[in-house]
Amino acid sequence: MRTRSIFRLKAEATRTLLGLASAAFLIAVVSRGEAPLQAQNAPAQSRVTFTETIAPIVYENCVTCHRPGEAAPFSLISYDDVKNRGQLIAAVTGSRYMPPWQATHGYGDFQDERRLTDTQIQAIATWVKGGMPEGPKAKMPAVPKFTSGWRLGTPDLVLEMPTEFEIPASGPDIFRNFAIPTGLTEDKYVRAVEFRPGARQVVHHALFQFARGGAVAELIPTDGKPGFSGAMPVRMVPAFAPAGDLGGWAVGTTPRFMPENLSVTMNKGSDFILQLHLHPTGKPERERSTIGVYFADVPPPRKVREISAPGLFGALVNIDIPAGEPAYVVKGTARTFANMRVYSALAHAHYLGKEFKAIATLPDGTTKPMLWIRDWDFNWQDRYVYKQPVDLPKGSKIDVTITYDNSADNPHNPCNPPRRVQFGMQSFDEMGAVVFQAMTVSDADEKALDDFNAAIAKAVVKQVTESDTVKRLQEQRRQFKAGAIPPSGCAGLLPSLLFAAPSSEIKKR
Ligand code: HEC
Repeated sequence: MRTRSIFRLKAEATRTLLGLASAAFLIAVVSRGEAPLQAQNAPAQSRVTFTETIAPIVYENCVTCHRPGEAAPFSLISYDDVKNRGQLIAAVTGSRYMPPWQATHGYGDFQDERRLTDTQIQAIATWVKGGMPEGPKAKMPAVPKFTSGWRLGTPDLVLEMPTEFEIPASGPDIFRNFAIPTGLTEDKYVRAVEFRPGARQVVHHALFQFARGGAVAELIPTDGKPGFSGAMPVRMVPAFAPAGDLGGWAVGTTPRFMPENLSVTMNKGSDFILQLHLHPTGKPERERSTIGVYFADVPPPRKVREISAPGLFGALVNIDIPAGEPAYVVKGTARTFANMRVYSALAHAHYLGKEFKAIATLPDGTTKPMLWIRDWDFNWQDRYVYKQPVDLPKGSKIDVTITYDNSADNPHNPCNPPRRVQFGMQSFDEMGAVVFQAMTVSDADEKALDDFNAAIAKAVVKQVTESDTVKRLQEQRRQFKAGAIPPSGCAGLLPSLLFAAPSSEIKKR
């Protein structure tokens, strides 16, 4: 329920601000002894009605989520649905809190951007102020049709959670991962994943990865319930390799094939790792999601790669945020050692993340805005796909700045009073990076990059094993194996057990 109350808190703040603003406006107008603006210049022909103006806006921008059975808490389909919440709708569209979209408009140009135009926002405000007239019934647009079947056609592989997972009626949000065997007997090239939650009201977002078959069962201690907990990119843990990222889903996402016929190679025998973010709804629910996987016939021309800054989700920059710190800054730079084409960007941090900014600088000094999230919300994790892939010639760099807010004023802070937070895999720990999906632009570049990576491989391993963060995580693991029960949650740090080599001891506990 926690995140719902955060949403509400924000919306309330917006409403209060709007209330204050309009009160101040009224005072200003009245003190000048003039008639309110509304009466002055609201000629009859500019009358905004539901059927003519508002319904098309709402159908285009809101009902993907605000319809029966979807995750948004109410429908916005009929005139009454919308009229009953008119004031609130004017407030949340005016503040651009709805439709939800985190990337700053104009800073990177992305597909499927959810955004109302200024004119649309103004129309909603005018309609609400004007008493929300319905307008001629004949002008009412048809309610959009939503298919209940696969939107990308019949999948090549359908996977289902092995068992249902029970979500209690109330309590904190749950992050749960499920390893689903794929049974693949050869490597496959994944060009899309389509996700269908069972209980749509409960599932807020999902992330897809794959890992070595059986690695989860081998490495992760069971707590007796299906799946395992945490919000972790398994692909960064060497013991899960071969592993990779297959994208994600959030409420309202349109499934798509990868751009330019790209695909990601999923190794034979892999387990599909489904990570679910679940919101209790007030009544007990059971979730069993289904996943459709679409394969390409031919391998991608070259490997789809990740360009990440800072590297390893911040493991090497020793994230260590003092309790109460409102603006802890982490910086990272990624360089291109071959000519690269960048397709999408994904920001990742946990609850304390606040702002992400990524800017590319080309060898000739020109800069390209890549991604700017000003008010990060752990609940709306999206991959932002560029309308036009961004070409970064060899010798370019991407600078990423991430700001964390570990003060008690951060409504997302899970700990009050705040405590020191360091890098780790649990959602109460922190990590952070902007991860770009990219490919070299030619076979010559591919070879150059592979050669370069091979040449620095030893140095990278040395850097990782000698990093303070990795040493700390390994020490935690040693203590845990020796029987120390770690403090958990806000009381202290949970051990991030999975960073080091496989261990059968862990499983026995
Ligand atoms: C991508 C899905 C999505 C889209 C698109 C979307 N919403 Fe929402 N909306 C939600 C969810 C989910 C919530 C519930 C948030 C919560 O409280 O957890 C919500 C909440 C709201 C609320 C309640 C806020 C509060 O304070 O209780 C309003 C009002 C609202 N949306 C209006 C709109 C309007 C108007 C549009 C279109 C312009 C829109 N939404 C588009 C998902 C969406």
